[in-house]
Order: sequence, then C-alpha cells, then structure tokens
Amino acid sequence: MASTRLLCLFNKNVADSTKTLARASWSLSCRRNVSSSPSRLQSCMSGWIIDQYGTNGVLTYTEDIPVPTVSSPSDVMIKVYAASLNPLDISMRGGYGATLLKLKRQPMSVISSDNGSEFPLILGRDVSGVVVDCGSEVTHVAPGDEVWAAVPPWKQGSLAEFVTLTEYEVSHKPKSLTHAEAASIPYVANTALSALVNAGGLCRDSSSNKRVLITGGSGGVGTFSIQLLKAWGAHVTVTCSQNAEGLVRGLGADEVVDYTAADAPEQLEMMEKFDVVLDNVGGETEQLVLGLLKPWSGAKYVTLVTPLLLNIDSMGLLDGVCHAGSSLHSKAIQNLISGGVFYRWGFYAPDGPALDDVSRLMDAGKILPVVEAQFPFTQVPQAFLKLEQGHARGKTVVRVTEEDDREELVQNSCTEFEQERRKLAEQH
Ligand SMILES: NC(=O)c1ccc[n+]([C@@H]2O[C@H](COP(=O)([O-])OP(=O)(O)OC[C@H]3O[C@@H](n4cnc5c(N)ncnc54)[C@H](OP(=O)(O)O)[C@@H]3O)[C@@H](O)[C@H]2O)c1
Repeated sequence: MASTRLLCLFNKNVADSTKTLARASWSLSCRRNVSSSPSRLQSCMSGWIIDQYGTNGVLTYTEDIPVPTVSSPSDVMIKVYAASLNPLDISMRGGYGATLLKLKRQPMSVISSDNGSEFPLILGRDVSGVVVDCGSEVTHVAPGDEVWAAVPPWKQGSLAEFVTLTEYEVSHKPKSLTHAEAASIPYVANTALSALVNAGGLCRDSSSNKRVLITGGSGGVGTFSIQLLKAWGAHVTVTCSQNAEGLVRGLGADEVVDYTAADAPEQLEMMEKFDVVLDNVGGETEQLVLGLLKPWSGAKYVTLVTPLLLNIDSMGLLDGVCHAGSSLHSKAIQNLISGGVFYRWGFYAPDGPALDDVSRLMDAGKILPVVEAQFPFTQVPQAFLKLEQGHARGKTVVRVTEEDDREELVQNSCTEFEQERRKLAEQH
C-alpha cells in the first residue's frame, strides 16, 4: 500500500522489529480470538487495564473485564480489530485529566460524598472493528458492518476485545484500508477537524486561498492535518525535524522548516504571513508563531496544547476552570488588541459524521494513513514505550485481532447474535 511504501523510507527498523513481535505472538492471538465473539455465555473479555495511575508498570492484561454490552437504544457494540495510541494515553495512564474525566463519567460525584473509583480504566482512543450488536434506535450501522471511531476519553477505551459507543461517535471505516491502517486515523482526525473547522474557521470550500502553518507536522495530528488541508486546497507550511522533511513533503507540505536549525525563526519570519496556525507543540513555539499571522485580517492561532485539564487536576474543578479561563481570556484579548489575531484552544470532539467525510477522502486516496509502528495485542506495554520515546512519525497501532481471522470472526460474531435473537424471540 502507498502508506506502507511511504513509511518504509522512514522507519524500516521499527517496522521490521514489530513484524517479528507480531509473528512471535501470532499463535497466542489466534487461539484467544477464535472463540472471542460475545454471547450470553461470554460475560468477560480480555483487555489491558490500569488499576492505578503511574508509569508503564500499571498496565495489566486481564481476561476478566465485563463485556460492555448494549445498554441504551443508541449504543453500538464493536469487536475491536485494531486500536492506536495517542499522547493522551500516556498522559491518562499517569492521571492526567483524572478530575474532569471522572466527573464526566460520574456526574453525581460532584455533589455526593460517595467518591466511587474510576478504576479499572481501559485506555486506547481509536478503534477500527466490526459491529456485533446495536441498540433498538440505531439506523446508521448494523451488525457485520466494518466501522471506525474515536473513543471519547471519558469512556472505556479500545485496548480490549470489545468497546461500546453511541451511534453518533461511529462511522463506516474506509473500504480501502486495513483495520490497522484505519485505527491510526479517528482520534487525530476528530481533533484536527474540530481545531481547524470550529476554532480555525476553515472548511473544504474556503481553504483554497488560505496559508496555513502546522507546527509539529510529523506527528499524528500533523500528518493527518497536512493531507486534509491539501485536499481542501490550502497552502501548507510545516515545522518538523530535519529527518521528517521527506515524510511531510511526501504528504503534500508546500514548505518545510527544520525547527532545530539555528535560523528557523528567521526562515519563518521571512515567509509570507499565515491565515491560520495549528500549533501541535505549544510552549516557546507559541510566542514565535503568533507573530507569523497576518495582522488585522481575521487570522487565527489554534493550539492543541492547553493547560485546562492540568489546571483542573492541580487546583480542582472550579479554580482550575477559572484559572485556565482567565489565562485564555487574557491571551485572547492581548493578541486581538496588539495584532488583530484570534487566539484559540482546539480540542478533540467526538463526531462520527465528520469521520464519514474523512472516510470518503481516504477511499479517494486523498489522505493516506501514516502508520509508523504496529504491535500485537500481547505487546501493548511495548507500544506505550515506543510512543513515550517521542519523535513520532505518524501513529503507533495495536492489532487487537489479527486480520487473517477477520472473515471467520465477522461471520461468527454476527451468527451468534442472530442465533441469540432467535432464541430470545422464541422464548417470548
Ligand atoms: N487538545 C486536544 O484535545 C488534543 C487532542 C490531540 C492531541 N493533542 C496534543 O497535540 C499535540 C500533538 O499531538 P500528536 O498526536 O500529533 O503528537 P505526536 O504524534 O507525539 O507528534 C508530535 C510531533 O511533534 C514533533 N515535535 C516535537 N517538538 C517539536 C517542535 N518544537 N517543533 C516542531 N515539531 C516538534 C515530534 O517529532 P520530533 O520530536 O522528532 O521533532 C512529533 O513528530 C500533543 O501535545 C497532544 O497531546 C491535544
């Protein structure tokens, strides 16, 4: 596949070693998966959980996780074929966002003294898989459909055999991609779309005359955003390390600046000013790139690196929100007054219909998945270690179910559900 060819240039060694890991765990995966379609007899599933926050040692494999069955009319239960990791998984493993995410999971905990535990938690924010069951009001997908989705951080994640989401969060997977390739996209796509469209004011029909700067272009969000913006006709400039230049140019970047070069700020300052900056790096980069936006023309700076959850974790909900809000407000006012530039925060937002559009772009070959490394399900801690090393070039994927078993499994899962339905119908 084109994406595989692209990535061979950049990470042949990682790919080779992960292929070896994949082979080593092949027989184990096969044995486990052949009997893994859910039935009334199967109340538990396998997956990777954390029971406390910490470093990689808290990741635990277990086969005793209750299967997340359909409990509301809009629920869609998915058999997971592949998941991918995001920097958020590393942060959440360490407790990042715990206060707000717990509140979202258990809204009553804010007024109740019953401080129930959020553990065990399942990480993993992307899924590509097959629908095995649907609530009564689901119309868009059906058992047997191949789907993909970004799992919201307040829900149990995809590093498990099954995940249950709402219909709104789920979309049909691009037909041209394997599950492993598809799993590399949903979370970064939902994030990039939310940041570029909602905060950056861009869209397919209004981008052709826009100049966009993407910092951190070689990572998960960056590699997706470059391709999306090129598909929309924008002019795209990217900052990345020197050894990622070939990758981002291959994805369509018009201009590339090596941020490690001593004269990188000067190179950027000499360029024509930008309409939108998507900042995937934050920190010192923020001040530099804010000065690169066109003044007094509605230009927008959108950063994905925000202090909101950290503030809430360290100060509590009210103080944290107030502190983060006042920091956002003062930066927004300051940039508006001094340069007529809009300063905004971008956030991931669940959006299945947006993934439908992305799916079409991928099937049309306009966006390629950039999978840097793949790990089998038995090697989830190794996948976390890979991500923790930084310097991502696209995404790290976990194959939860080996795809050679796919057709057999799809058939097994759907047949079992059909049989159960018939049995239930006969009983009533
Ligand atoms: N707010 C939200 O809802 C939200 C959602 C998704 C992601 N995020 C955040 O957005 C950021 C990007 O996410 P991601 O998934 O793309 O991360 P990622 O896959 O880890 O990619 C980060 C990329 O940035 C490069 N980089 C590091 N320092 C750089 C610099 N100074 N200038 C240019 N490039 C630099 C890294 O490569 P080298 O180090 O080799 O240069 C790497 O390729 C992360 O901080 C993530 O936590 C926020």
